[in-house]
Amino acid sequence: MKENFLWGGAISAHQVEGAWQEGGKGISIADVMTAGTKDRPRKITNTILPEEYYPNHEGIDFYHRYPEDIKLFAEMGFKALRISIAWTRIFPLGDEQLPNEEGLCFYDQVFDEMQKYGIEPVVTLSHFEMPYHLVETYGAWRNRKMIGFFERFAQTVMERYKEKVRYWLTFNEINNQRIIDNPIYSFTNSGVIFDEEKLAGMYQAAHYQFVASARVVTAAKKINPEFQIGCCLAATPNYPLTSDPRDQLLAQQEDNNQLYFTDVHVRGHYPKRILNEWQKKGYTIDVTEADLDDLAKGTVDYIGITYYLSNTVSTRSDANYLHDPLLGSSVLTTNPYATMTEWGWTIDHMGLRYMLNLLQDRYELPIFIVENGFGFNDQMTETGIHDPERIDYLAEHIKQMMLAIEEDGIDVIGYTAWGCIDLISFTTGEMRKRYGFIYVDRDNEGNGSLDRIKKDSFDWYKEVIASNGAMLK
Ligand code: BG6
Repeated sequence: MKENFLWGGAISAHQVEGAWQEGGKGISIADVMTAGTKDRPRKITNTILPEEYYPNHEGIDFYHRYPEDIKLFAEMGFKALRISIAWTRIFPLGDEQLPNEEGLCFYDQVFDEMQKYGIEPVVTLSHFEMPYHLVETYGAWRNRKMIGFFERFAQTVMERYKEKVRYWLTFNEINNQRIIDNPIYSFTNSGVIFDEEKLAGMYQAAHYQFVASARVVTAAKKINPEFQIGCCLAATPNYPLTSDPRDQLLAQQEDNNQLYFTDVHVRGHYPKRILNEWQKKGYTIDVTEADLDDLAKGTVDYIGITYYLSNTVSTRSDANYLHDPLLGSSVLTTNPYATMTEWGWTIDHMGLRYMLNLLQDRYELPIFIVENGFGFNDQMTETGIHDPERIDYLAEHIKQMMLAIEEDGIDVIGYTAWGCIDLISFTTGEMRKRYGFIYVDRDNEGNGSLDRIKKDSFDWYKEVIASNGAMLK
């Protein structure tokens, strides 16, 4: 493992900060999402209803407690911390001409605190938290105007933090919105709930995001040529359930549906199969010559991936289909060789090595694992919080990453474990789906002291980092 490997953790603004109405912050799409569970989807209420509970309003209060939290991350030896900037702290409505200075100051302080400990910031520009005003007034990413609003936001923060931040990501898990039947995924990515022509709507919203991302990459290089700008893919291998060639073809199609997002970000143009699909289905997607030019110019420097699970797909009538309301696909089956988390996410550490190989062969770019983690309902006991399941999950994934680096020659530049401190779950809005090395005393209903308590995995991860992974060999 290279000495400068970026070990660390990852969080996002809306899942930790809270203080939803402090510092001049505007209402974001995360602020209108209620708490749910695996079986009871979060509601998108379009306004704040007094009888509902909105867990992101308080988050874990990182807004006030970031010095304490960053100190704990430093104690684990973090070299990098992935955070996101809440768009609504900088442009509360999203369409203003001038930014909110108080919001800019907040992130100045956060970056300064990280710098104190030599922690490299990795910053996502859009992590499921666009201003709600843009949804109401413009229809969010249905509208071409979003490109300009996003550019203004991105350029403002890149200019402001050009001496403090080197690694950027444009859109978190941009391919999530391909799960078109679950409104949570399209709403958090695009601020859109796709209706009649769901797939065409998704292609249009994603197109405007591709153009916005590419234009930001081009502008960023002028602000600081040293910047490294990545895209972000929720990387999920699709395995065929059987050797029936129909299953193999389906798995390939599912992979392609996911990878077309990175194809555009990395190659700077659409794959032919997508253009062919639009033509065959009669979709008229608003794509201009200038857009194509922007896409070609603004290709990314590295690929950020999040990795949690693999999928197994089938066409066969005798398959054991999942019918999972969250993952929302009719072709998903259980994998007879793997177990699942309580939330139905298939545990598959080898899938990470598989995915790293697939991406490197396809794109030949450095890869940054910007999320990987294990959601588990940890219990506080008299002797502390023991989380051997998390340690095991992370150890097996890190080992696969190291095999990919050392045996397969894959260029992985960093690994930031997701939810390095317990936070609000994105898909369910729960607190009990915990990922952290640090426990936060708060429950699903918002009760608790918010105290921070180290879990067993805290010292374990500290050793992993100190040994640069060698203790896992
Ligand atoms: C990724 C997101 O999809 O997965 C994170 O980028 C999210 O925001 C993480 O929290 C885990 O998902 P969940 O639903 O368990 O929080």
